[in-house]
Amino acid sequence: MGAPGKPRTGPSRRSFLLGGAAGAAVGAVAGGAAAAVGMPDAAAGSDGALGLAQVPFHGPHQAGVASAPAAHVTMLAYDLVPGTTREDLRRLMRLWTDDARRLTSGVAPLADSEPELASRPARLTVTVGWGPAAVALAGGDPAVPTWLKPLPPFSIDALEERWCDGDLLLMVAADDALAVSHACRMLGKDAARFTSERWRQSGFRHAAGTRRDGATMRNLFGQLDGTESPAVGSEERAARAFITEGWLAGGTSLVLRRIRMDLDTWDEVDRPGRENAVGRTLDTGAPLTGGGEHDPVDLEAVDARGFPVISDVAHVRRARPDDPRQRIVRLGWNYDDPPEDGQTSNAGLLFVSLQADVDAQFVPIQERLAQADLLNTWTTPLGSAVFAILPGCDEHGFLGETLLG
Ligand code: HEM
Repeated sequence: MGAPGKPRTGPSRRSFLLGGAAGAAVGAVAGGAAAAVGMPDAAAGSDGALGLAQVPFHGPHQAGVASAPAAHVTMLAYDLVPGTTREDLRRLMRLWTDDARRLTSGVAPLADSEPELASRPARLTVTVGWGPAAVALAGGDPAVPTWLKPLPPFSIDALEERWCDGDLLLMVAADDALAVSHACRMLGKDAARFTSERWRQSGFRHAAGTRRDGATMRNLFGQLDGTESPAVGSEERAARAFITEGWLAGGTSLVLRRIRMDLDTWDEVDRPGRENAVGRTLDTGAPLTGGGEHDPVDLEAVDARGFPVISDVAHVRRARPDDPRQRIVRLGWNYDDPPEDGQTSNAGLLFVSLQADVDAQFVPIQERLAQADLLNTWTTPLGSAVFAILPGCDEHGFLGETLLG
């Protein structure tokens, strides 16, 4: 974490005494500290510590897949333009690494025309992934992992090409949407010569500081979403997510599913019906078999009439693998975009799953959910993409060096 900002509690007495423009502007909004037009940004109501907070860029894993998810995310997929060489890819990875290193530590990249926007990283992370074409360009076909390909089709899919696949992924996350936007702009400029943008998807969680650290996020159905995913930094999380061998050691695989959540038909369901769909309560996220959020789910429990307390087709029962090697790490961000063609809402989840092996871990779970899951009544996968998330690097290295170095 970075050093806290200079403690400032609002417009200073001096600014009121100054006759100049800044003083006049502050005077006009006296009491509304955040709107301190013309003031340096440190003059907002708080001490600005959230803006200055940093997640270290260097390490065996890229920060965005090893750290607690930030409030805002933008996922950007690019296609490599035809004729891009291995040397071009190396140049781009060096540029992205250098700029990400700076941006995540609050330092403007060299060609930054708005350097002030870089000064508040707000836990910015930049995570880079490759699709199969980029891996093949960097290391030849044998370097492409067998799982790095589009997912098999599932019966529930209604995929739209505009949300699928890609040669390169940038996952940019921070607790401040401005930091995300600026980083995307800078990194996008680096990529412009070698790539065309394929898609861009943005999502959000609770704002930083609004809930206790480590609390499970709520999705737009109001559910606590992420309970079963192991804690950030835990051995269990690392065992599920990280690859341990070969050029991807320290990396992971990322599946992004853009899943529409039909808020209008969900509105029609009563509370017991909603809780039954998942097998957990809405208020505390506890299993319907009792206890607190993190207590075990009892899939054997039956009610007085002998029926299972947790339905045979409840999401938690269908999603839970019998084989512990099939477990995944789920991240998720909500999206709430402008409605299209007669819709009244266009909302859902940017569902992100991390695992060491997509075919061995993610696919069997998704297959089971496609066969039967009450949640399918209100959810529809619209987008799907799989990327190899590169291992992290140290101060002297660059992302992708294990194939390009
Ligand atoms: C919009 C779509 C989805 C929603 C709203 C949703 C919601 C939830 C909720 C509320 C829980 C219970 C709390 C928790 O442990 O997080 C849960 C658990 C889970 N979900 Fe989903 N989910 C969705 C899609 C998916 C998909 C696509 C997968 C994987 C293919 C998945 C896999 C899981 C797993 C593995 C669990 C934990 C099950 C256990 O307790 O062992 N979910 N989900």
